[in-house]
Amino acid sequence: MTEPTGYSKPQIRLHWIVALLIVPQFVLHDGISAAWAALGKGLEPAFDPLVPLHVAGGLLIAALVLWRIVLRSRRAAPPLPEGEHPALKLVAKVTHGGLYALLLALPLSGAVAWFGGVGAAGDAHGVMKTLLLALVVLHVVGALYHQFVLKDGLLLRMKTPAP
Ligand code: HEM
Ligand code: HEM
Repeated sequence: MTEPTGYSKPQIRLHWIVALLIVPQFVLHDGISAAWAALGKGLEPAFDPLVPLHVAGGLLIAALVLWRIVLRSRRAAPPLPEGEHPALKLVAKVTHGGLYALLLALPLSGAVAWFGGVGAAGDAHGVMKTLLLALVVLHVVGALYHQFVLKDGLLLRMKTPAP
């Protein structure tokens, strides 16, 4: 696979759409958390539109992330900025891999919990959402460090498509 100089337009669009879709999964989780707690107590949860929103939003994220992975398997990522310390390159690779993995494992565990009534999957979902939050913070701090401290224009790679 030849190394492109940047991300393609669909890759960039999908990156930002998925980033936006993640926000309501965290901010508007009250409905599904309350419904899950009610089910755990053997009660029938009252209808709350936030529940189907969480489920549909999460499944949409999974579909878009699968799409991203297909695109990524057809086109390598551009090489990481030259001169970056090898340890930091590794951190970036592990962070990106972890983000892809969690964005699939979260909807999967959520679906197994919600549709299969599996309590352990709900627990795993709760742990993984914290891991995702930690990786997103690390990822954003890394991106801002490149942009404002190293001033290597890294953010442009997720803004301007390249051949
Ligand atoms: C909130 C959820 C986010 C997720 C899940 C996410 C996920 C990812 C992933 C998986 C990659 C690697 C792409 C690949 O190599 O295939 C990536 C790249 C990138 N992300 Fe994000 N991202 C998020 C938010 C952000 C934000 C808020 C920023 C900016 C402040 C940002 C800036 C970047 C940049 C600049 C790259 C390209 C890095 C490079 O060229 O090596 N991301 N993101
Ligand atoms: C990337 C996608 C997803 C993210 C980021 C996400 C995030 C979250 C968050 C932040 C919570 C609150 C957890 C807590 O209060 O500790 C939660 C709860 C829950 N979510 Fe998701 N979710 C996603 C996808 C899904 C999907 C697709 C389903 C079902 C098909 C689902 C089902 C649930 C259930 C049943 C709960 C309650 C169990 C619990 O609190 O651990 N989630 N989710």
